[in-house]
Amino acid sequence: MGARVRARALELVVAHLGAPKRLIEVRTEHERKEHDTVHLSKAGAVKAYQCAGVVHPFTCDSVCSMTGSQVPGLAYNNHAQRYADTFQDESLPMFPLDRNMIRLLVDLVGGHPRVLDAGCGVGQVTKMLRNWGCDAVGVDAANKLIELARAAYPGIAFTVGDIRALPYPEEDFDAVVARYSVIHTDPAQVPVVVGEFARVLRPGGSLLVEFQSSGGATHPFAHAAGPAWAWNPDGMASLLSSAGLVERARLVCPAQPSIKYAGTSEAHLLFRKPGPPCGPEPLVD
Ligand SMILES: C[S@@+](CC[C@H](N)C(=O)[O-])C[C@H]1O[C@@H](n2cnc3c(N)ncnc32)[C@H](O)[C@@H]1O
Repeated sequence: MGARVRARALELVVAHLGAPKRLIEVRTEHERKEHDTVHLSKAGAVKAYQCAGVVHPFTCDSVCSMTGSQVPGLAYNNHAQRYADTFQDESLPMFPLDRNMIRLLVDLVGGHPRVLDAGCGVGQVTKMLRNWGCDAVGVDAANKLIELARAAYPGIAFTVGDIRALPYPEEDFDAVVARYSVIHTDPAQVPVVVGEFARVLRPGGSLLVEFQSSGGATHPFAHAAGPAWAWNPDGMASLLSSAGLVERARLVCPAQPSIKYAGTSEAHLLFRKPGPPCGPEPLVD
């Protein structure tokens, strides 16, 4: 998009919002940040949320404390191709436990569900879900991972976005999978993420959260892509329950020092949103 057209588009968004303007900080492709800030400021906005060329005014209230450097997951941009070379295989050959837990999620909702891959990275899980007949889409904060996902899997909708302010309407999905994507969010903000998962799930839908786990308190652990936290499974389950979700199953795996990518304990929590069944399991009358 040309700079003038882009500036005009931003002005229109601001005008559309009307007074009082409640736009928030600009989070954007870095080279365009200055321009956007100037134009938004000229247009009378206080701040704005912008992502992958699209301004999302509807997310304003929930992302008001973000800045580019604070968005979790962005450090993956520095290792995007290496990440893809290592993990971009849609049969998840190195992760049989993960693959089967995701399959269980799909079987629980049944049919051809609409599934969100939240924090999709380079999109191999999204593609695996597509191969299983799901209408799957992916969202991730790291734009370079999203570029690689789009290049590898044309035809699948991959969006740059933040799991703390998902760019989807309420009850849009039958299922949500979050595979090791909540670990980079500061624990104080994880309730926001969980609230977003619950918001976009339809009643009766299911959520799978997979994460590095801790036998004791939730604690930071060393991770190549920046800050990360290992969660106590009960602590995460408690947050999910607080968001109105109900536990269906969990798999908690001890660390396997002899297995490269299972060197930390891991947990897989399956929850469902109360509501009419959208899968094969009958509910009581
Ligand atoms: C360990 S990787 C897992 C990627 C993918 N789920 C997979 O199975 O390969 C964590 C991913 O979560 C993303 N992520 C972390 N925090 C995020 C946030 N707040 N919003 C969106 N994506 C986030 C990172 O950019 C990264 O792609």
